[in-house]
Amino acid sequence: MNRHIGFLFMATGLLFLLAGIMFGILGGVFYLFPQELRDALPFTKIRPLHVSAIVFWILFAAIGGLYLYLPKYKKKHSARLGIWHYLLLLIAATAILGCYFTGIFGGREYWEFPPILALPIAASFILLGINFYKSMRKNKEPWPAYRWMWLTGIIFFLLSFTESYLWLIPYFRDSLVRDMAVQWKSYGSLVGSWNMLINGSALFIMEKLSGDRTMARKPLTFSMFFLGLFNLMFNWGHHIYSLPVNDFIRYTAYIVSMTELLILGKIILNWRSTLSEAKRNKHLLPFRFMTAADIWIFLNLFTAILMSVPALNLYTHGTHVTVAHAMGTTIGINTMLLLASICYACTRFLGKLSSKSIRWVNKGLYFGNISLLVFWLALLGAGISKAMLQTQNPSIAHGLLMQQLKPWFIGFTLSGAGIVAGLVMVIVPLLHFMITKKIKLNTQTAHKLLQHS
Ligand code: HEM
Repeated sequence: MNRHIGFLFMATGLLFLLAGIMFGILGGVFYLFPQELRDALPFTKIRPLHVSAIVFWILFAAIGGLYLYLPKYKKKHSARLGIWHYLLLLIAATAILGCYFTGIFGGREYWEFPPILALPIAASFILLGINFYKSMRKNKEPWPAYRWMWLTGIIFFLLSFTESYLWLIPYFRDSLVRDMAVQWKSYGSLVGSWNMLINGSALFIMEKLSGDRTMARKPLTFSMFFLGLFNLMFNWGHHIYSLPVNDFIRYTAYIVSMTELLILGKIILNWRSTLSEAKRNKHLLPFRFMTAADIWIFLNLFTAILMSVPALNLYTHGTHVTVAHAMGTTIGINTMLLLASICYACTRFLGKLSSKSIRWVNKGLYFGNISLLVFWLALLGAGISKAMLQTQNPSIAHGLLMQQLKPWFIGFTLSGAGIVAGLVMVIVPLLHFMITKKIKLNTQTAHKLLQHS
């Protein structure tokens, strides 16, 4: 049953990814024709639709991994909990997108939906926590690092998600600095918490592909886990450089944010060098997605280091450099690792993909990543140009500023279309494979049951 739920989560995640990238391209088109599309396609709706669909892609796909990779337990109520967990998250996600479509807002940036919809999300994570506990209860052996990552990911999601709603209390809402500091702190930790879920699954896959049971128990791997946890708790300081907070917070954030990506990159690099040619070929697709993620880790590390320098952050904050960082990491690292996880889960539990599907997924991987490189450079170019134009002429009108950035936006939208095409080449064969295999397996099981009865 865990497996059915795991694939249900993953397939739903892929559908949200599909929706997310379609909204993304509409956002790109809006950049090019803001006046013409202001009423038909308001950016105030497109942006939250895109970002929320993408967040749900990450959550569904990451949680799917947990259901597939945690030890199974067989009680019937566990399956029921899993289904409730899935339904609560699905209801919240579709209601949230529905609210944005119909123009019902009421939250804060990134969670712009009416706060009441936060309840099913929180409840779904509580059910995930219970399922995690039940899976691990009888497991007496010392935990590898990935299980600690999953556990802390679930706990910190709940804590920081609750924290992101502290603005409902007047004590926080009535002070701008306090409100923003808590808001951005909780967002930093929230991202850190789903990174824990994703990186935990990435580590699990690395262990299984290499067949080396010690790798997830090595001191270097555990040090990465602790560093990730430290980042999750303290790296948020780089989101609030522009607020009048204690310098200690800024410096801690700066030092801490330098470290995590580097260690994750090092672990994947080490793992790749330990894999024999035969093992790489056997698991070609997950291996290639992991390699893509590794390249993006180092590219993003470079920009993250520059952006975290307080003197530079003052200029780049609120420009497209931040968007480049956010999308570079969520597409290049999170999405690549999650796609590696889905490819691994498909081959391990459902069988080998046809060679035609593998060819499409490979093409999509290359095409998507080359497009992403152009996309990322265009966003960085737009951000740096914006910072320079605003420094030279602080009173420049917004319309004129956007006009000057248009060449970058054309590159951004065209390469965005390339990412969409690349991802569609990956998503469609994977979804098709999951659906046909699952239906086939279910029919075989039904036949067996009928024969026995
Ligand atoms: C897997 C694919 C994608 C992921 C994970 C992703 C993720 C994100 C994230 C996290 C943000 C918020 C950025 C921030 O607040 O700084 C964002 C914003 C945005 N994305 Fe994407 N994105 C994806 C694909 C695309 C594509 C293909 C396009 C097409 C051009 C696109 C266009 C946009 C636009 C226009 C914004 C709003 C930027 C702004 O606030 O001005 N995205 N995306």
